[in-house]
Amino acid sequence: MHREKWASKIGFMLAAMGSAVGLGNIWRFSYVAGENGGGAFLILYLACILIIGIPLLLTEVSIGRQAQSDVVGSYQKLAPKKPWYLVGYLGVASAFLILGFYSVISGWSLYYFWNYLAGQLAVEPASGYQAAFGSFITNPFQPIFWHGLFMVMVIFIVLSGIKKGIEMANKVFMPTLAIILILLAIYSVSLDGAVEGLKFLFQPDWSVLQDPSVYIAALGQAFFSLSLGVGTMLTYGSYLSKQHRLPGATVGIGIMDTLFAIISGIVIFPAVFAFQIQPDAGPDLVFITLPEIFNQMPFGSVVGILFFLSLTLAAISSSISILEVPVAYFIRAMKWSRKQASIVTGLIMFGLGVLSSLGMGVLSGVTPIGDNNIMDSMDFIASNIFLPIGGLTMALFFGWYINKKEVFAATDLTNSRLRHVWYTLVRYLAPIGIIVIFLNAIGVL
Ligand code: PFF
Repeated sequence: MHREKWASKIGFMLAAMGSAVGLGNIWRFSYVAGENGGGAFLILYLACILIIGIPLLLTEVSIGRQAQSDVVGSYQKLAPKKPWYLVGYLGVASAFLILGFYSVISGWSLYYFWNYLAGQLAVEPASGYQAAFGSFITNPFQPIFWHGLFMVMVIFIVLSGIKKGIEMANKVFMPTLAIILILLAIYSVSLDGAVEGLKFLFQPDWSVLQDPSVYIAALGQAFFSLSLGVGTMLTYGSYLSKQHRLPGATVGIGIMDTLFAIISGIVIFPAVFAFQIQPDAGPDLVFITLPEIFNQMPFGSVVGILFFLSLTLAAISSSISILEVPVAYFIRAMKWSRKQASIVTGLIMFGLGVLSSLGMGVLSGVTPIGDNNIMDSMDFIASNIFLPIGGLTMALFFGWYINKKEVFAATDLTNSRLRHVWYTLVRYLAPIGIIVIFLNAIGVL
């Protein structure tokens, strides 16, 4: 059957960067860094990206490009009649779980963008930003409307195809996103008192490294941020031809993803410190703390529009990559058309999103895992269990199962001096690192 391809290598790179750069870089990175001590966390995070993240990214993209198939089909092709493909199903399941909560938070971002545009958030709501956010996300209808609207956009892009939908959207979104974030960073740094924020982000306080949870947070963030372990990068890699060389491309994607996280930090922390607010506000940082800050700063309403526009664009480009994982699988395995696969899959994800949105309010008593609500439980199962298993399997597959010569050929590393470094990282360090976070996440370590 005919499979689509990217129009160009740069189209693939922009799409992969679009997948990597998302809520994880702006919303999640800023609060995880804020909670874990800033500068020292940043260094650990960079180490995780470099030592485990980028080598695994090359592995994941190569598996897809080699097999030219979706996340289940690729393993079946490269290891016929062996159980490796089962992990592909886990990837498909992770995609449902991740988009099932990611799209709800993206819907919040879309709502904020719209309200800044309409001038409604530029003035502080009578009840204050915190209460207004609380009453919005617990409302049984309003956030579902925005979540639905967001999913309609995502479905539309994916059903338009690889070149005309995904590649085209990223070609527009990524440069726009880069320009807006750089402008916002320049503005934020120019605020009086911004230096404290830069110090927080760049000057390491080594004492936080005594807490083992900081290491786990850094590795988890690296995985989530690089979109590793679900099969998105594998699926995107499968639309590449053999003639495109991968090592440089994957290093470029990793570097860009990190730069976007750092630039978001430069947007957020100087402003947080300039207005003397604690940086460790947690997940609420972007939706409560920042609007409070925008409200006090000159041109705050314009900053609000631009900030939530960039957050929404980043969320769309990541969400399309998540939706593409099951869509590619259904097109091949069920012989569905792209249109049918995108709509059916997108609707199921919308349904999961409805559950996780209601879990913030009406269904807040439903706590599937520990005392986590529906959204946090979906995040927990996907990010802490399924993604590490997906990443570990990829590392073991190339590090131990497929023979070394074929692996070097698949990754375009045959003539590279760095091939042994990469191989050692994928064979030993990545699996050990992942097993350590995994055991920690389930409470064994
Ligand atoms: N990398 C995205 C972000 O940082 O927001 C999130 C993500 C996308 C995770 C795709 C997993 C994935 F497969």
